[in-house]
Amino acid sequence: LRQHDPIFLMSQQHNQSSWIVTKYDHVKELLKTQSFLKDQSKLFSTSPHDTPQDEMTTIFQNMMLDVDPPDHTRLRKLVQPYFNPKTIKNLQPRIEDIADQLIMEMNNKKGPIDLINDFAFPLPIIVISELLGVPAEDRNKFRRWSNTILAAADDMETDFVEDVQAFTQYLTRLFEERREEPQDDLISNLLQAEEEGEQLSRTELYSMIVLLIIAGHETTVNLIANTMYALFEHPRQMERLREDFSWTENAIEEGLRYYSPVDFSTARWAEKDMEFHGKHIQRGDLVLASLSSANRDESKFERADEFDITRKEVQHVAFGFGIHFCLGAPLARLEGKIALEKLLNAFPDIRLAEQKPNWRPVFLLRGLDNLYVN
Ligand code: HEM
Repeated sequence: LRQHDPIFLMSQQHNQSSWIVTKYDHVKELLKTQSFLKDQSKLFSTSPHDTPQDEMTTIFQNMMLDVDPPDHTRLRKLVQPYFNPKTIKNLQPRIEDIADQLIMEMNNKKGPIDLINDFAFPLPIIVISELLGVPAEDRNKFRRWSNTILAAADDMETDFVEDVQAFTQYLTRLFEERREEPQDDLISNLLQAEEEGEQLSRTELYSMIVLLIIAGHETTVNLIANTMYALFEHPRQMERLREDFSWTENAIEEGLRYYSPVDFSTARWAEKDMEFHGKHIQRGDLVLASLSSANRDESKFERADEFDITRKEVQHVAFGFGIHFCLGAPLARLEGKIALEKLLNAFPDIRLAEQKPNWRPVFLLRGLDNLYVN
């Protein structure tokens, strides 16, 4: 596709077309969606127009991912301080403790271990739960609700209405508890911002927490598991990393590029008719950036289909680009680095227990069902 039809027409329904952009340079250009033209108008928006809002969808449509400036700027500013690299660095000792604890539990198990269930999934969940102030022991509920919401984005059959109601009710109860007894956590601070008015509306508050829970649940788990899998598939690279752990950060960047945890950006909607690299895009069309394709673009990366942890300056777009660039990138990078170092140090002979693990059949994300190791 990148060579023959880089801006690919995926479908056409009722006068609305859906496109997929696959080349690195085009993806970056698209994701600069809020790059305003000289007359201050924008080309693409992340906010769908003409979509009827009901109670079910409002808690999603007010996510910062789905809104444009100035609302986007206001919402992002509220949580940015919790996610900047300096604040995140302070979490390092706690993340290491959690990783050690999980490894201890893995050591007590007999037979093959599922690296996803026993490590890659709980680690980021416990971290984000503590940061937000939601009980980590409820993680299986969040997993179910996150899965439902993502599956709905894929038009798959789910108990969507029931699960969204349960999720909303759960958050309502939690917000009441935190209002009565504020803690030193992100939810308590956002509740205060909501009470002070102006900065955050009720629905925006729900959307923010739902977004952070989903983003914190469904992505870093893939980063850890996919990078471990790539290392298993490439024993020479695994050896190299074991010989010199100073390559770990690079290995994480290469893992992000090679098996990008998020396959596609969220939707961009054309704000006007335009020519985009030879294709006629009409106002209202939906355009998606294929991040995983861009990350394998031969015109940007030499030997793009090779996994090489010593690759210099891996300028991938796995975290997106532009104003919606991933807020959680410093956290995900730190968790990934700690995870790899801890796992490889604790298990010098770790290897795959089955030849070919299954990729989950989900459109937006690239992750494995399980990753059994011995
Ligand atoms: C945005 C990827 C981890 C929070 C994004 C985007 C991507 C992405 C591609 C941009 C989507 C778009 O432009 O349509 C990833 C990957 C992760 C990861 C690959 C892990 C390896 C996290 C974590 C959090 C997080 C741990 C926080 C808990 C967010 C938020 C946004 C976002 C809040 C929206 C930012 C905005 O609209 O300004 N992420 N993410 N992400 N991510 Fe992540």
